[in-house]
Amino acid sequence: MSFTSFSRGSDPAPGSVPLTKVTVPALSEMKRQGKPISALTAYDYATARLVDECGIDLLLVGDSLAMVVLGQENTLAVTVDEMLHHTRAVRRAVRRALVVADMPFGSYHGPIQDGLANAVRFVKEAGAEAVKVEGPRFELVRELTHAQIPVIGHLGLTPQSVHRMGGYRVQARTADGVRELRDDALALARAGAGAVVLEGIPREAAATITSELPVPTIGIGAGPDCDGQILVFHDLVNLTFAPPAKFVRRYGDAAAAMRTAIEHYREDVEHRAFPSDEESYHLPAPARRILRAGAAEEEDADAVVNRDALPDWGETGQS
Ligand code: KIV
Repeated sequence: MSFTSFSRGSDPAPGSVPLTKVTVPALSEMKRQGKPISALTAYDYATARLVDECGIDLLLVGDSLAMVVLGQENTLAVTVDEMLHHTRAVRRAVRRALVVADMPFGSYHGPIQDGLANAVRFVKEAGAEAVKVEGPRFELVRELTHAQIPVIGHLGLTPQSVHRMGGYRVQARTADGVRELRDDALALARAGAGAVVLEGIPREAAATITSELPVPTIGIGAGPDCDGQILVFHDLVNLTFAPPAKFVRRYGDAAAAMRTAIEHYREDVEHRAFPSDEESYHLPAPARRILRAGAAEEEDADAVVNRDALPDWGETGQS
């Protein structure tokens, strides 16, 4: 790894978007202006930095990291400490986008005060600018809002309810179901939610809710009529090792690009084609001459060959 080329605070990437920080109130303003909100998940410094530099408005450190980063079967096992760890990494990378931390299963399902204490950790210890909670948790949303913690709601197919739902199934498939979901969304907004993620519901349901809700809806598997869209980063770039869901559009094939690079590297190592002489550090010429002169002069060489003559680790300059 090059320690010098990827540090925080270096110049923004060429062509990057202007740095007007995205906030929760700014999302509502975007809804008012009819400006679509772009959102993606991110879980680490490198991808968060790319996503932010590409001008995505909202980065969610989703509990989907349990599956796409940690290889778990569902989202239920990921812990607050693991989510904090990844949220910190993302926060360090981001300059413009709104950073939202997903509260994991079990961290807000007991007493409200426990949920509040866990949400405070995401803000205080990881720099989250909002938290997301699944389900119609109106009282919790009210308390978090009262504690000055912006909240994003999440309704419809809520993955933390996988066992109750009996699998990942499209929700709100009847008129009554749509009305119930709309009422929950309105109640979340009244409780203070700054936006609501709508996942895995019919397009018509999302359109109805979006038109009635005073705050933005952000859809995933909810059709094109939401105020914004979110996808899991790994789905977007084909890093999920599974056939994509109907609503996923793959915009790139990082798996293919990475496989090509890795295989090329392995072959080069096996054929001693990497590293080259140009990719190697060299002793200064006097030290090289002394070394070449042979074993008899080894003591002299020790006096000349010292670490100060070598470039620092990570510097690209050759001596
Ligand atoms: O965890 C996650 O990635 C999410 C999005 C799918 C909304 O909650």
